[in-house]
Amino acid sequence: MANIHQFDVVVVGAGGAGLTAGLYASRTAKTAVISKLYPTRSHTGAAQGGIGAALGNLEEDRPEWHTYDTVKGSDYLGDQDAIEFMCNEAPQIVYELEHMGLPFDRTPDGRIAQRPFGGHTNNVTGKPVRRACHAADRTGHMILQTLYQQCLKNNVNFFDEFQVVDVLIENGKAAGVVALEIATSELHVFHAKAVIFATGGHGRIWEITSNAYALTGDGIAVALRRGVPAEDMEFFQFHPTGIYKLGILITEGVRGEGGVLINDKGERFMEKYAPKVKDLASRDVVSRSIYLEIREGRGINGSNYVYLDVRPETVNKYAALDGRTNPDGSPYTVTGEQILQKLPDIIDFCRTYLGVDPVTQPMPIQPTAHYAMGGIPTNMYGEVVIDEKNTVMPGLYAAGECACVSVHGANRLGTNSLLDIVVFGKYAGIKAAEYANGADFTPLPADPDGFARQQFDRLRNNQGNENVFQISQEMKREMFDNMGVFRTAETMTHALNKIHELQERAKHIKLTDTGKVFNTELLNAWELTNLLDLAEVTTVSALARQESRGGHAREDFPKRDDVNWLKHTLAWKQNGKVTLGYKPVVITKYQPKERVY
Ligand code: FUM
Repeated sequence: MANIHQFDVVVVGAGGAGLTAGLYASRTAKTAVISKLYPTRSHTGAAQGGIGAALGNLEEDRPEWHTYDTVKGSDYLGDQDAIEFMCNEAPQIVYELEHMGLPFDRTPDGRIAQRPFGGHTNNVTGKPVRRACHAADRTGHMILQTLYQQCLKNNVNFFDEFQVVDVLIENGKAAGVVALEIATSELHVFHAKAVIFATGGHGRIWEITSNAYALTGDGIAVALRRGVPAEDMEFFQFHPTGIYKLGILITEGVRGEGGVLINDKGERFMEKYAPKVKDLASRDVVSRSIYLEIREGRGINGSNYVYLDVRPETVNKYAALDGRTNPDGSPYTVTGEQILQKLPDIIDFCRTYLGVDPVTQPMPIQPTAHYAMGGIPTNMYGEVVIDEKNTVMPGLYAAGECACVSVHGANRLGTNSLLDIVVFGKYAGIKAAEYANGADFTPLPADPDGFARQQFDRLRNNQGNENVFQISQEMKREMFDNMGVFRTAETMTHALNKIHELQERAKHIKLTDTGKVFNTELLNAWELTNLLDLAEVTTVSALARQESRGGHAREDFPKRDDVNWLKHTLAWKQNGKVTLGYKPVVITKYQPKERVY
């Protein structure tokens, strides 16, 4: 029999969403946070450029503009009630973080500093607006440290290096989770009145990705196995600027500070694709533009990368051409020293991984798989909804990248992920605690860890000559080549067939480590089953959607089709087969129109 623990609220994941949820839930309910990592190693720490909030500290800005930009950025697939809620909550939550001690950069008069980011505009002039509140290029890292300190102060119970492998659902309600203790391979049952998934993304499906090793989509996959659908999985964001071949993120903050994208001919090519905001168009637009430049032979030296150039002479030249000014109206210029001060981490990454110094040399970059717009369907209070009618599953919540509220629709704006994790993490925590305080524990099933045990016994006892690494590599390459920035029915069908082949082969993985202590091979094998399931759901959802919208760009259906496809996809996986359903998008104030940047 597994070890049994009992908490009112159990949060799965200790990134920004999980820690915020844990912090708020713990104020009124006995709360545990379970994480496969030590909390401060979570991927929120990799978010660089800023958190979006219309504080208007350096120039006029308004939450309504933030709302409209987010709706437009989402290619009109975002739910407008939830987007408005998030953007209205943004200033308050940023000030809460500030009061918790988050060391934001400052304006000369001591307010939180803000920089421009892609798709954030003054809705009157159409020009970029400074909305990203930043702590150098370490904003996510600072958020993570601040929230973890607050959780410790508030006596949140942490179970670090526990991998959650199943969610218990009894009589249609969440009853807890089952976790594998990584140090011992022992199973633990966490009996809970409310469960919040905050397990992050699944970018490890793709070969070139900004995502950490741990981002294997565990929460979505675990929920999917218990009948919870996944929403809008076909929309996965490629961030325009990953370090060439490595995928490590180079923040959009570089372009916010005046950096520009340059092709082999030395042209600032974004002028052609987005004449108004140029390098600060939304990410889907910029990533596609880079691909087109490369495809048409204008990658650097004919290769598949372009330059991101933040050398002071380049920044100053284009800032003058654009007529960019400082808040006081003086011409915008930067020095090498200022670049170093504003972007220390990315300068360090480029020096370390590329031997390139961005103060004196341009950076080779390519689009990198970055962010899942889709995930576990929720309403704006973090409650998981399980069908086309948005029926709530009592006791089950999700927040952050593993959830789909949907505030990002078909394409997320930069800085809205950090905002999403703290706004919806907070409300998921509050709502879960309220629910738990008015509910009894749902009795556990007879053999609560039975399903988890079965999965791990099978992985341990599999016979064959396959290995985790090989299958994982083949999946990543296939998804990058055929389910990347551009897609067609042909490439997607190729990808789906390959995924099915790999799912079969994965049944014949023979583990070489048969031990119980920190058996990471066993864990990687289980994570691979999650990635393959999500790759399958992503591809099936994408094949069905016969249009192009946001991060889903089909060359065989190049136009957005609001008549037939202004709707969210829901995907279920039952009895080994993916089935799809659809639900309407919530439109309040903004009717869909063509996006012009
Ligand atoms: O470019 C960046 O700093 C990434 C931020 C984000 O994904 O929101």
